[in-house]
Amino acid sequence: MKNNNEQRPHAILIPYPLQGHVNPFVHLAMKLASKGFTITFVNTHSIHHQITKTKPDGSTANGTDDIFLEARQSGLDIRYATISDGFPLGFDRILNHDMFWDGVLHVFSAHVDELVAKIVHSDPPLTCLIADTFFVWTSVIANKYNLVSVSFWTEPALVFTLYYHMNLLTSHGHFACHDKREDAIDYIPGVDPIEPKDMTSYLQATDVTTVIHRILYKGYEDVKRVDFVLVNTIQELESNPILALQENQPVYAIGPVFPTNVTKPIVGSSLWFESDCTQWLNTRPPGSVLYVSFGSYAHCTKNDVVEIAHGLSLSKVSFIWVLRADIVGSDEVDFLPVGFDEEVKERGLIVPWCCQMEVISHQAVGGFLTHCGWNSILESIWCGVPLLCFPLLTDQFTNRKLAVDDWKIGVNLCDKKLVTRTEMAAKINRLMCGKSGDEVRKNVKEVRKVMENALSSNGSSEENLNCFITYVKLKTV
Ligand code: UDX
Repeated sequence: MKNNNEQRPHAILIPYPLQGHVNPFVHLAMKLASKGFTITFVNTHSIHHQITKTKPDGSTANGTDDIFLEARQSGLDIRYATISDGFPLGFDRILNHDMFWDGVLHVFSAHVDELVAKIVHSDPPLTCLIADTFFVWTSVIANKYNLVSVSFWTEPALVFTLYYHMNLLTSHGHFACHDKREDAIDYIPGVDPIEPKDMTSYLQATDVTTVIHRILYKGYEDVKRVDFVLVNTIQELESNPILALQENQPVYAIGPVFPTNVTKPIVGSSLWFESDCTQWLNTRPPGSVLYVSFGSYAHCTKNDVVEIAHGLSLSKVSFIWVLRADIVGSDEVDFLPVGFDEEVKERGLIVPWCCQMEVISHQAVGGFLTHCGWNSILESIWCGVPLLCFPLLTDQFTNRKLAVDDWKIGVNLCDKKLVTRTEMAAKINRLMCGKSGDEVRKNVKEVRKVMENALSSNGSSEENLNCFITYVKLKTV
């Protein structure tokens, strides 16, 4: 038995079961493990099944069904557990998202509780629970087992702050005001006046009886009771909302949380098989390829997809388009315009999924048409690639504001909500070859420097993470 003073801190990490949340959690786990933590990482059965069945030949992504095996072989103490989210594997969680979220809200916590009870006295004993802010039970379960409670927010601090102050938005009549109010929101602590259209879609939506609203209400009640909030952002880029939040409780920016060496990460956390794009990219001149992807979750209308395809054709720019099979919903199959395949043969590559970091860090990529998922924005900054922004739902509207209006590292795809092929072709050309493209390219390099500094040994993200670790270690002895 080890002396108490030598005991390693042991954290259990539980991501929300979606790609955009699993990725930063996996890399937070790696970071903490490399700083001396024992980690128990928890995926739902369904996410685990997705990750480990990725290759079409039936072999698993890592050749094993333990996604952390390689990390463990390189000396990190990362344990891996899977629990049920309450639904059978074949259940379509995207199609039935309300039912799924409801299940996650009510059933999942019981499974987490059982797992924590099982490992709380393991060697080393569990000291810390780190769960996604969208879970509504973090402080309750942590308190029950006397663990340090940590909420990990995988989106920007600005989005966190807006949700945090839902009561203020409600009392001023800006909550659920979609298209009814245009006056700026100028009363949220740490937030410069922001237009209602730049709030997350959940704060704009007029139907507030949905499951996601219950999750947000309960989640933000719980988050106010946790010991720490860790945010996947950079202090220098979002200092005002972070400083204002810190008046209430410890909120630490520790981002960006992803593998910064941009080669293939040693933990494969992709939910789908990654098509190889490198060979094709190697044949293209530097900065000539537009990468197009709308992340793992958002859907477009069929009209959007058609206009995007025509816009790509008209622009004459080379492109890689990550076109998920369900991009316009599961019942639409033939959504590309007739003749587009000829265009693709000439100067494009369409894949259902790829290793995004590997693609956007390739020197051939010169722009990213994105839905503004937060991971995509952070990754694109890291790779020095400017953005063409086309937000579709949730935090993506607020993320667009940060990227385009505040940091000026991207341009809007369309000035009105409707995409048109001619506007799109013009915007692509301006981004890839025009003067405004040079401007945003220069800005993205500046923002990358801020990110790089934050991650350096005495940078803000590194110091914040170390400060958090010191606190957990103190609690461990
Ligand atoms: C969701 C929300 O939509 C997003 O707004 C929120 O910030 C996080 O949760 P998602 O839509 O999947 O995420 O977008 P994003 O945040 O960009 O995350 C996608 C992740 O998948 C990125 O880490 C990206 O590198 C990865 N990816 C995407 C791939 O590895 N391959 C692909 O082909 C596409």
